[in-house]
Amino acid sequence: MKLLIVNGPNLNLIGRREVNVYGKESLDQIINWISNNIKNSQTELIWFQSNSEGEIIDKLHWAVDNQIEGIVINPGAYTHYSYAIRDAISSIEIPTVEVHLSNIDQRESFRKISVIKQVCKKQIKGKGKKGYLDAINLLIGNETLSNH
Ligand code: DQA
Repeated sequence: MKLLIVNGPNLNLIGRREVNVYGKESLDQIINWISNNIKNSQTELIWFQSNSEGEIIDKLHWAVDNQIEGIVINPGAYTHYSYAIRDAISSIEIPTVEVHLSNIDQRESFRKISVIKQVCKKQIKGKGKKGYLDAINLLIGNETLSNH
């Protein structure tokens, strides 16, 4: 199974950015941790990060022609206002799980709104890097969520 993992704006800076909120690990360290902890060796993960809305939309469209069977997306701040990313997710009809490192419900009020939530299978928040693993397990049909 081929999954696409999309990280949006400023997520390239995690590990250095607001470490009290997002932790000390870089995106590369999280990617390594996920690769080492994924149970299903048949699963291929394609990681993509961009700070641009259009590039994220183009990658979601790319998924349709590239046998992607599931998507995990952390759209960063686009979560809260990008109807264009929402429309892209609903247009491609590939099961998608929304992930946030932090608990967006317990922060500033603008973060409580996700315009993509309704077009995703599930929203996972506040679990740090484990949230990505849970999302992957959900998509590969291993409903057992991580207990790391
Ligand atoms: C985030 C939460 C967003 O509100 C924020 O803009 C981010 C990261 C998270 O992973 O917790 O960039 O998506």
